[in-house]
This record gives sequence, structure tokens and C-alpha cells, in this order.
Amino acid sequence: MKFSKTLTALATLVATAIADGAAIVDALEQIQSDATALNDTVDSWSGDLLGALPITTKSTSLLIHINKGTETAKHSANLTDLETFNVAVTTLNLVTATNSTLDTIVASKPKFDKLLLSPVILLTLKSQKDASAQLSSAIAEKVPLTFQGAAEQLAAQLDAAFEEALDAYSFF
Ligand SMILES: *[C@@H]1O[C@H](CO)[C@@H](O)[C@H](O)[C@H]1NC(C)=O
Ligand SMILES: *[C@@H]1O[C@H](CO)[C@@H](O)[C@H](O)[C@H]1NC(C)=O
Ligand SMILES: *[C@@H]1O[C@H](CO)[C@@H](O)[C@H](O)[C@H]1NC(C)=O
Repeated sequence: MKFSKTLTALATLVATAIADGAAIVDALEQIQSDATALNDTVDSWSGDLLGALPITTKSTSLLIHINKGTETAKHSANLTDLETFNVAVTTLNLVTATNSTLDTIVASKPKFDKLLLSPVILLTLKSQKDASAQLSSAIAEKVPLTFQGAAEQLAAQLDAAFEEALDAYSFF
């Protein structure tokens, strides 16, 4: 029957849309878990050269997952209000985690200075800032117009937090 076919098509569409929002939430949660792992590693680092290696690995994993998240968002359909809400809650948690990770990285600067690694951290932070900005705008393009202002505000907070960390690393 034509009606049931339409209904099936509609159900598939809805399912796809839900999957898109969920995929973005998954990607953001992965990024948050990377940020938290990086935070823990930097925080517990004694300042030795060997201990700096896992910091590099975790930092790279974070960057890769930010870029993956951007791809996921770019391929996503426009988000519904409910999906936007879920993405917003996850993003807010992520901004908090990112801020705190950046604080830890800034607090550890003397240790990076000692090993002459601060310029490397500066470059890494720059790539992560750019990648995060791309992720923010890829997501913003998929949220309903009424939420665009809120999305931009969150993106601006993230940007400001990165800017503070970059400032701290610009002098050594
Ligand atoms: C980062 O580490 C600091 C210091 O241990 C801790 O206070 C903060 O809650 C941690 N943040 C995250 C996102 O894990
Ligand atoms: C998706 O949303 C954006 C901005 O909210 C809008 O410009 C665009 O036309 C929408 N695309 C579709 C396919 O609805
Ligand atoms: C993150 O840090 C920025 C810059 O300091 C600040 O404007 C923003 O309010 C912070 N956001 C959260 C959720 O902690």
C-alpha cells in the first residue's frame, strides 16, 4: 500500500536523523574522554622526558577525534530540536572539560619549559584550537536557526579558553 510505504520511508528518515544527532553526541563524548585522559596524564606528569611521550600520543588522539567529529557533523542531516538539545548538553560538558584541561596544561608550562617542549605545545594547541573551531562551525550549520546564537556563544567560550592558553604559551 502506498500509505504504508510512505510511513516506512518516513520512519527511515526519522531513524536516520536520530542516528545523526547521536553520532555527533558520540563523537563529542569521545573527544571529552580524550581531553580527560590528556588532562590526567599532564596532571600526573613528573616532568621527565619519557613521561612526555604519552602526552604527545594522547594529544594526537584528541586532535584526530576532533577532526573525525567535524566529518561526522558535516555528513549529518540538520538536527531536530531534541537532537540539538542533546548535542548542546554534551557540548557544554565538553567546554567545561576542555577549559579544565587547558588550565592543567598552562599550570604545567614550567615543566614543558624545562625540556624546551613549550613551542611544541604551542603548535599543538594552535592545531587543536583550529580543529575545534571547525568542529563548532560544522555543528552550528546543522542546528535550527533559533539555536544558532547559543551555538556561537559556546564556540566563542571554547575559543576564548584556547586563546588564554595560547597566550600563556606565547612567552617562554
Ligand atoms: C583535570 O585535572 C585537574 C587536576 O587534577 C582536575 O581538578 C580537573 O577536574 C581535571 N579535569 C578533567 C576534565 O578531568
Ligand atoms: C539546514 O539548516 C540550515 C541552517 O539552520 C539551513 O540554512 C538549511 O537550509 C537547512 N537544510 C535543510 C536541508 O533543511
Ligand atoms: C571556559 O573558559 C572561557 C575563557 O576563560 C570562559 O569564557 C568560559 O566561560 C569557560 N566556560 C566554561 C563552561 O567553563
